[in-house]
Amino acid sequence: MSDNHVQIFDTTLRDGEQVPGCKLNTDQKLIIAERLDLLGVDIIEAGFPVSSPGDFKSVEAISKIVKNATVCGLTRAHKNDIEVAAQALKFAKIPRIHTGIGTSDSHIQFKFKSTQEKIIERAQEAVKYAKSFVEDVEFYAEDAGRTDNEYLARVCEAVIKSGATVLNIPDTTGYCLPEEYGAKIKYLKENVKGIENVILSCHCHNDLGLATSNAVSGAINGARQIECTINGIGERAGNTALEEVVMIFKQHPNLDLYTNVNSQLLYSTSQMVQEHMGMYVQPNKAVVGDNAFAHSSGIHQDGVIKNRETYEIMDPADVGVTESSIVLTARSGRAALAYRLKNNGYELTKLQLDETYPEFLKFADTQKEIGDKELHILMERCKIKA
Ligand code: KIV
Ligand code: ZN
Repeated sequence: MSDNHVQIFDTTLRDGEQVPGCKLNTDQKLIIAERLDLLGVDIIEAGFPVSSPGDFKSVEAISKIVKNATVCGLTRAHKNDIEVAAQALKFAKIPRIHTGIGTSDSHIQFKFKSTQEKIIERAQEAVKYAKSFVEDVEFYAEDAGRTDNEYLARVCEAVIKSGATVLNIPDTTGYCLPEEYGAKIKYLKENVKGIENVILSCHCHNDLGLATSNAVSGAINGARQIECTINGIGERAGNTALEEVVMIFKQHPNLDLYTNVNSQLLYSTSQMVQEHMGMYVQPNKAVVGDNAFAHSSGIHQDGVIKNRETYEIMDPADVGVTESSIVLTARSGRAALAYRLKNNGYELTKLQLDETYPEFLKFADTQKEIGDKELHILMERCKIKA
């Protein structure tokens, strides 16, 4: 693996599927897992096997069909969870157990009623136990975002000694600022013995809308795995959105970071996940929303018709969207009207366009959007033939 390759750990089927209303059956999970493998993600977190018999079955079935990606199962730092995960992953070509425990003061005090030292012991035991089943063991320090850096470094050092291959630093509550999260990763890179032998992973939540920024900041500061979901779905406000991370690295070559994801499959994968989960993204969702490549104001439309790059920083074809759309509303100008009429077979002279435009505006004021059907009505009213 090159030093600049950021591995994509997709958790759509685990953190994403935890969302109320997003539950999938095994067949649906298999379809999505196959697509994620094709998309080129490095790791698929297939589920939390101990959580239910259905989840166990899904992780087992996914393990059998995934050809390229590592298949991962989540556990708590409990022996039984780890045994069940190992069992569910036994058919995987490349299995990974993802185990961990809360490390922030609030988790230690309220969730575990424990002490920092005891948590380190439990973390080490869990990693060692997972290691007795699989070579690849990822450790998560839950609520690392609110964990004191010095203590977090001690936890990391201890689990590396126990055999962890990947260290996940989750901002579980979506609290961190990008500078703060990046500094946390940098601190660990500089202060943990053995860190050069493991991969640091960013797992960020979107409670303050910073999940993608935080993950990118983590990668800029040395993390080489990002945990994310299609469409950014996940607990509460969601997780880092896979499609955003992939396109940020692609559109900013100066960062010198890349993923193995085939970006041209992003839009269709997003649609597939929306339909199976029944969870639809907002039209203004970055990269994959309906409006991500739609232009509706006259000034922007005029620019895009002259040259797409005036108002678009990425080529829609790069994410699998066929073309930018010019949406006609009462804010559209003559250039957009002429462009859309031409696409519908009406070539207007300048005079015809000047006469039609005020009619168009009157009509558009009565509609949310002027579609092709309305354009034909307008042409009929203006007595212009295609
Ligand atoms: O947000 C989180 O901390 C998690 C862990 C279980 C990795 O999802
Ligand atoms: Zn999470």
